[in-house]
Amino acid sequence: MFVFAPDIEAPKAVLYADLFKAADALTDGETDAIANMANISALLWQFLPDLNWAGFYRMIGDELVLGPFQGKSACIRIPLDKGVCGAAARTGEVQCVRDVHAFPGHIACDTDSRSELVVPVISSGKVIAVLDLDSPIVARFDDEDVDGICKLANLLSDRINK
Ligand code: SME
Repeated sequence: MFVFAPDIEAPKAVLYADLFKAADALTDGETDAIANMANISALLWQFLPDLNWAGFYRMIGDELVLGPFQGKSACIRIPLDKGVCGAAARTGEVQCVRDVHAFPGHIACDTDSRSELVVPVISSGKVIAVLDLDSPIVARFDDEDVDGICKLANLLSDRINK
């Protein structure tokens, strides 16, 4: 059993440092990509406030396919020319969207979503997945969230690549 107790009231930098340690402990030595994505989704869902979705889409062929997540059922396949996730996978760049209603082509899997952070997971120079967080609050994600989630994505790059 894993017991983690990050303080969700702590400053974001502290919370993300705790989450990084927890993610490292959860995935260290585990070679099953699905198990690792599932545990990271659960970890983020439990300890990051104000989310309505947290999870992964995997690059399979030329599209993104739904991976392990927490939240409501979501769209299964996303072409790279569609949505915030498609933009992150196509460009290899973080997409931090303050207001999803202002993002052309945003895919509303859940109409409650108002802001979104999508970070590409890159292994050997290729996008192998994206880590997607949604929030019902406009402008939920800031530079500290981007930094914290990017560090997690880096940690995971060779732990979800199977
Ligand atoms: N909103 C995403 C689709 C995935 S869901 O948010 C889970 C997008 O525009 O790509």
